[in-house]
Amino acid sequence: MLDLLITNARLPDGRDGMSVAIQDGRIREVAAGLDAPAHETIDANGWLLSPPFCDPHFHMDATLSYGLPRVNESGTLLEGIALWGELKPLLKAEDLVARALAYCDWAVARGLLAIRSHVDTSDPSLLPVEALLEVKKRVAPYLDLQLVAFPQDGVLRTKGGVENLERALDLGVDIVGGIPHFERTMAEGAASVKLLCELAAERGKRVDMHCDETDDPLSRHIETLAFEAQRLGLQGRVNGSHCTSMHSMDNYYASKLLPLIAESGVSVVANPLINITLQGRHDSYPKRRGMTRVPELMAAGVTVAFGHDCVMDPWYGMGSADMLEVAHMGLHVAQMTSQPGIRACFDAVTTNAARVMGLPGYGLEAGCDASFVLLQARDVTEAIRLRANRLKVWRKGKLLAETAEVAPRLHLEGRPMDTRFITVR
Ligand code: FE2
Repeated sequence: MLDLLITNARLPDGRDGMSVAIQDGRIREVAAGLDAPAHETIDANGWLLSPPFCDPHFHMDATLSYGLPRVNESGTLLEGIALWGELKPLLKAEDLVARALAYCDWAVARGLLAIRSHVDTSDPSLLPVEALLEVKKRVAPYLDLQLVAFPQDGVLRTKGGVENLERALDLGVDIVGGIPHFERTMAEGAASVKLLCELAAERGKRVDMHCDETDDPLSRHIETLAFEAQRLGLQGRVNGSHCTSMHSMDNYYASKLLPLIAESGVSVVANPLINITLQGRHDSYPKRRGMTRVPELMAAGVTVAFGHDCVMDPWYGMGSADMLEVAHMGLHVAQMTSQPGIRACFDAVTTNAARVMGLPGYGLEAGCDASFVLLQARDVTEAIRLRANRLKVWRKGKLLAETAEVAPRLHLEGRPMDTRFITVR
């Protein structure tokens, strides 16, 4: 007897009328039209069943703090960093935990069940680190939270930066972070990449670095990151986040760089919502769009995922833990409007994001975790177009969240609704 049988589902790869058999929190079988006894059978009614969304780049220590102590007037990355610096001395652990837990509730309701969050290690108190380690423990039954030791003010630029970061790792933070473009010089930035990659290799950790989040085309720390990943045998364990300088780089240099990144096994996370708003702020017209070269990286064989980065914090006042909104913006900024392009944007917030995060048991095959989101959409294009309603969210076979089907009701005299064209939301 199965624990759960989901029938009549569409899958992201386009297969229709599919059933998924679940036992002991894992997928036992995925096949068309399965009929087997189960404790519970759910008719998916032809809606899209996907593995859950994953966010490979977030800042949970700052989330939901919008307006504290003031809002970012210029909208720039640098004012955001300065504003975060004003907020940090005012932070209380219990408020930070409460905001982070509220965000995790939003995430679960949206079918977002794995988040990689950077956590600021610049202050010797390590208050954000201790608070997010507590959050990680509390959400563990329903959400995978990975933490990155992130020296926001520069690991070399900040007094005691290396020691603070190492202490965060000692406390249980999973991944080594960095911010080479915020160090004092290009040389210091490159030195920070080398130092942090060596630290990760010594400790057997993964690396996820904010890399070249700038419009400066000469910011080339991704090149050093790729080199160090290869030199230290960290292939498949290193990620470059943002990489927005690639948007402004000379094409000739980019044509050398892309194969180097692919060869090094470094993945890239673009953050479309944030970089469409933060980058190009020093331009008049034309204004650069400031997202990294997503389709070109994908074509070169690099794993590329999309992150949310910020929700209601010193850098960004919008957002709602909706990774379909992230995919929607990514699709627009990268002009990925072809059918393969749209599918790649869906992968960027599901399978590719899971690969960046190294999540075991992720996927829609026998043996994978029975973790899914049932979307009120007929395919991935509709899911992104509508930022579709999440009907049900399961993790390891357990139902975590539900939202009723929604459809608009119009009251137009003499104009009955044609249900073939109903837009669901
Ligand atoms: Fe970030």
